[in-house]
Formats: sequence, structure tokens, C-alpha cells
Amino acid sequence: MRGHFITFEGGEGSGKSTHAAALAQRLTSLGIEVVLTREPGGSAGAEIIRHILLSGIAKPLGAETEAILFAAARDDHVRNTIEPALNAGKWVICDRFIDSTRVYQGALGRVDAKLIRGLERVTVGAAWPEVTFILDVPAAVGLARAKRRRGQGAADRFEAESVEFHEQLRDAYRALAAAEPQRIVLIDGRAPRDVVGDRIWEVIEQRLLGAPQVAESAAP
Ligand code: TYD
Repeated sequence: MRGHFITFEGGEGSGKSTHAAALAQRLTSLGIEVVLTREPGGSAGAEIIRHILLSGIAKPLGAETEAILFAAARDDHVRNTIEPALNAGKWVICDRFIDSTRVYQGALGRVDAKLIRGLERVTVGAAWPEVTFILDVPAAVGLARAKRRRGQGAADRFEAESVEFHEQLRDAYRALAAAEPQRIVLIDGRAPRDVVGDRIWEVIEQRLLGAPQVAESAAP
């Protein structure tokens, strides 16, 4: 049986990587085989492209070229990591995926939505995420967390953008969640870590593990 595909999205310092790892651990403890991966990267070819993108050397080429590079990385990642895992019945949890391109290059970089959808069609194929969690935090909170985590290290290509950029990013993510409620679950990332983790688990149980749902009419 084919495995399940879950993605995590959000701005810098939203906690998505922590929660992606926590979910992977929880599923593993149930005996489920999980592949935890991330974008850009997650396969040998995509890691090379990651370096090009995050170092900022591709920035002068413009957002459209960056979108194409992210798509090239995704193509390699889907073919070599995600599809083989799903076909082997494993669950795949990916830290960032198509929604990052829609938001960073599409909404913020103003890359034509038709190009973005076209790139999705050729790269994603059957590997469409079943559930996407967007962790929502105000830009100032997320950037402060990211800065604390980074310590003395330099900000990468996107972390170095302004607070306004990150606020717009948040709005764009929220708009995506509103447009695709069947796939995307928006979660308040300011809540305590356990609360966020429990909410994520509740969704996984209901949507993918087939936990019995209590019908409202059956409640006393
Ligand atoms: P990364 O160092 O992986 O950090 P994080 O995911 O914790 O923010 O940085 C990935 C960066 O790449 C991030 O700033 C978002 C950006 N990005 C895009 O602009 N488009 C994409 O399609 C993807 C996958 C990422």
C-alpha cells in the first residue's frame, strides 16, 4: 500500500521543522516507517541546487529563475526520495514543498501563477501532499526566533529580507489556507509547543490514521 505524504509550511522561525520532526517521531513510535525530508534539498541533486539558492548567488537572476531552480530541485527530490518512499509504503514528511514556491516566488516574487502551476504539474506528479500544516506566527516573533537560533551565523537569502516581506509572506500563507481548506490546516504557532503538537496529531489521527470520529449527534 502506498504511504502518506504530509508537508509543513510557514515563515522563518514558525516552528515547522520542530513539529515535522516531532510528528515523525510519534509515527515511528507506532511502528510506521517515516522519511523526514526537507526542501530545497532532500536528494543529492537537490542539495546542490539548495546551495545555489540559499547562498543568494541566484538572486540577481530574478524570482522567475529562482522559481525554476526550486522546481528543478523539487523534481530531483520527488523522483529520488519522495516517490520511492511512498511506493514502498512509507510515510513522507516534508519540511516545505509547493506552497513555499507559491508564497515566496509567487505571491512575494510576483512570478506568474500560471508558470508556478505549470512547474507543479511537471515536478509533483502523483506526489501531491494529502495534509499540509501551515504554522502561523507574526513575522516579528518568527524572525526573533530565527535570529536566536542562528546565533552569530549570517542570515540566508530569505531570512535577510525585511519584516514587511515576512508579514506579506504570512498573509500569503493564510490566503492559501483559506483557499484550500481540504488539504491545508492553519495552526497558531504561538501556542505552547505541546498544544501545537496535539493539534497536529489530532488532524493526523482523523485524516490519515482513521481514528473513529465522535459524531456530534451521538454525543449525550
Ligand atoms: P531553510 O534554511 O531550509 O530554512 P527554513 O525552512 O527553516 O526557513 O531555508 C529555505 C528557504 O528557502 C526559506 O527561506 C524559504 C525558501 N524557499 C523558497 O523561497 N521557495 C521554495 O520553493 C522553497 C522550498 C523554499
